Amino acid sequence: MDVGTGSGILAVWAAQAGARRVYAIEYTDMAKHAKSVMEANGVADVVTVIQAAVEDVELPSTDFPGEDSTKECVDIIISEWMGYFLLRESMVDSLIRARDKFLKKGTGIMYPSHATMLLAPITDEEERKINRNEYNGAMGDWQDFVEATKGTYGVDMSVLDSHFEREQREYYLLSSRWAEFKPSALLAPPQIIKSIDMHTCTLADCRGISLNDTGSAFDFEIVTQNNWEAEGPISGFAGWFTVDFKSRDDEEGMDAAPKIIHPVHLTTGPEGGYTHWGQQAFHLNSCIPLISGETTRLKGSIELKRTKENVRLYNCRIAFQASRRKNSEPPGGTLVMQSNVIEHIYQIP
Ligand SMILES: C[S@@+](CC[C@H](N)C(=O)[O-])C[C@H]1O[C@@H](n2cnc3c(N)ncnc32)[C@H](O)[C@@H]1O
Repeated sequence: MDVGTGSGILAVWAAQAGARRVYAIEYTDMAKHAKSVMEANGVADVVTVIQAAVEDVELPSTDFPGEDSTKECVDIIISEWMGYFLLRESMVDSLIRARDKFLKKGTGIMYPSHATMLLAPITDEEERKINRNEYNGAMGDWQDFVEATKGTYGVDMSVLDSHFEREQREYYLLSSRWAEFKPSALLAPPQIIKSIDMHTCTLADCRGISLNDTGSAFDFEIVTQNNWEAEGPISGFAGWFTVDFKSRDDEEGMDAAPKIIHPVHLTTGPEGGYTHWGQQAFHLNSCIPLISGETTRLKGSIELKRTKENVRLYNCRIAFQASRRKNSEPPGGTLVMQSNVIEHIYQIP
């Protein structure tokens, strides 16, 4: 079963790979195009395109003589459901519902089978400053407008100052940005902030990242050597995801499900080159310098929550303290600097 078939590439591949029957489920009118794509590629006899939300789908009972077509009758569910920073769009909910209704317990396989979210500190001053300058420019234009409106028309618009400022701040300073970083932009090895097993995850697991999740806490150390030419500064964080197509390793499926002989790993991180997902950059309002001969530690937490207005969109809260110690000091040793808690809530547009 291909959930969210779109134009149908995955369904065609499934048929070409030898699937006996493929159900291609697509909610939008793209389903009509998918049907043409199946015919043009000679797989229309194997692929049944169904235009519906997968949550509402009933599979044709004639395809399952002697079996119950309404539950646990599918061997594989494949889908390209991943959004920016993995969870944006929240399509994973539909996959979990499809899995619970149609996938054979124990032996069924989800593709991708596992998903992982990662975070790392980055240097990205050019882009960070561009956004800062855009914000300053917008605020300058607003002041000119307020003065001109008062002088020319006698109308005082300054009552809207704080509303305008908040809107510009949210847009320019507190929105994450799509980015395609080079590996050299990363200042420390990435840390896993969330792992999802597609065979066992629940709707609650995939709602976001909460402070109770083990991955929510991060602790980065950036060691700046004495002979290291000024690298950095720290401009913020980058977040991205990987997905795997590998054997089931959950208790129920580990022995029962077929083994994946050629596992596949897809990364959307800087090490993997271009993908349309790219990375999400979360810029700080002020950069944090790196000092030669010192180790900078960023210790904090990340939370990812669906917005109240739209369950498909997310806010990301990053809170941390920065500290520095001489490289000769052990972790927990004497500090040269410790910041207050730095906290930003970003929207992921
Ligand atoms: C990222 S696209 C997949 C594109 C596809 N792999 C292709 O090659 O064209 C996701 C698709 O899932 C569909 N979709 C999202 N939620 C769905 C649901 N609950 N049931 C069926 N289709 C859904 C969207 O309409 C969209 O076409």
